[in-house]
Amino acid sequence: MTAALLDSLRAIVGDAHVLTDGDLSAWEQDWRKRDRGRALAVVRPASTEQVAAVVKACAAAGVSIVPQGGNTGLVCGSTPDASGRQVVLSTKRMNAVRAIDPANLTITVEAGCILQSLQEIAEKDGFLFPLSLGAEGSCTIGGNLSTNAGGTQVVRYGNTRELCLGLEVVTAEGEVWSGLTGLRKDNTGYDLRDLFVGAEGTLGIITAATMKLYPMPAVQLTAWAAVPSMEHAVELLGLAHRTLGAGLTGFEVMGRFALSLVAKHFPQQRVPFVTAAAESADETPWCVLLENSDDESEEHARSRFEKLLEHAFEAGCVSDAVIAENLTQARALWHVRESITLAQVEEGLNIKHDISIPVSRIPEFVRVTDALLAEKIPGVRMVDFGHLGDGNLHYNVQAPAGGDAKAFLAAHEEEVNTLVFDSVKSFDGSISAEHGVGSLKQHKLPHYKSPVAMKLMRSIKGALDPQNVMNPGRVLEA
Ligand code: FAD
Ligand code: MLT
Ligand code: ZN
Repeated sequence: MTAALLDSLRAIVGDAHVLTDGDLSAWEQDWRKRDRGRALAVVRPASTEQVAAVVKACAAAGVSIVPQGGNTGLVCGSTPDASGRQVVLSTKRMNAVRAIDPANLTITVEAGCILQSLQEIAEKDGFLFPLSLGAEGSCTIGGNLSTNAGGTQVVRYGNTRELCLGLEVVTAEGEVWSGLTGLRKDNTGYDLRDLFVGAEGTLGIITAATMKLYPMPAVQLTAWAAVPSMEHAVELLGLAHRTLGAGLTGFEVMGRFALSLVAKHFPQQRVPFVTAAAESADETPWCVLLENSDDESEEHARSRFEKLLEHAFEAGCVSDAVIAENLTQARALWHVRESITLAQVEEGLNIKHDISIPVSRIPEFVRVTDALLAEKIPGVRMVDFGHLGDGNLHYNVQAPAGGDAKAFLAAHEEEVNTLVFDSVKSFDGSISAEHGVGSLKQHKLPHYKSPVAMKLMRSIKGALDPQNVMNPGRVLEA
């Protein structure tokens, strides 16, 4: 049976694109190195028709499929399980731009298109594709849609879902749903597009998408501010909203310890207001990275941006600040922010969270939850940072200094997750705002979503994928 399936797959995509031997770690190992599975084969189709034929062949053989884009997901959702019975379907060869419609402000691309390529293609034509995240050099638009990725521009442009107008999808039965519309309004029944966005490959395979483009802003200004507390960071956010309106395109918060890890592991980078020594009480506890995009003259925009920071200084919510003088300086500041994830990897395995809480309640959440954690695990180190502008905090927990990170995870991951998620629930938040559920959090979902919500989700899965071919055991328990 297996040999017959492999023969069919080779006949569909060509021998060179059905990988079964050699080092398959790029497809079998997750980005965080939390999980290493084993694939029956890695299959690399080049077209929607090939994807459909692969799905039909796998479904007929009773073999499940794990869709994979850039494999940068952080919740073990894009790698196979240990059974050696799953096919990894990589979309990487499907990376063509199918159309750009400048008047409609849309671009239609295939799912395997790398996010950074999409940004660059849009920019060449004078447009902005605003989705931006640290993994943009390797993640794909299909993966971004399937995780409904957030990133650093959500405060102005929304999540990937808000940037998507239409989809082409290969269903779990191997049919093609051609929903590649550029319409901004369409009320003809259930929204199929929104079912597949954020489904983490459990309902079908996204093969192409029509995405929104925006005019490129004339000016972008970036500032880095030291703030005395999380309360002050929230106050600064309110001030920025009132002063900049829709011009506020980024608002990131970063804790002192998170930044000290960047200073420690990447000493070539200059981290404003924080050193590698970390716990010095003289250093600011939090920094904020703000971005302002505008269409007026640079002089006018800069003067307003400076006034915002002066005002914040007078109000006591900023203790120090720098404004980037040019694009190179702005990029360097963003690079520090985007390096936190890698610095954390260097420091050792950790318990990652991507929670969301109403912005107004984040300071209290941090205070209460920090205290609960410190009581349970003395010396535990908090690597807090994230997208404060949209209420999404990476509230990450690192082993006490000098502790064995692997042993810490084995001993404490479950209790830390339960403590943090219970606290999130008590603040009316979500246990995942960005990275999704994957196979890391699927067992937690029934505790934090209502029975009715779980029943509806299971009904949708049952209706769209009755044979459980698509990424089983992810999002919903197998
Ligand atoms: P993969 O990892 O390959 O897959 C992710 C999920 O989508 C899997 O469940 C997979 O089965 C499914 N999938 C992939 N392609 C398809 C498809 N075509 N059809 C159906 N299902 C599919 N995430 C954020 O939200 N915000 C951030 O700021 C952010 N920053 C990051 C920074 C770093 C350094 C890293 C490593 C990751 C970051 N992430 C972030 C997480 C990750 O990059 C995103 O989840 C991204 O959207 C995943 O894209 P991918 O192509 O790598 O998908
Ligand atoms: C980020 O905001 O940098 C990402 O979501 C990645 C992470 O949480 O480490
Ligand atoms: Zn994030």
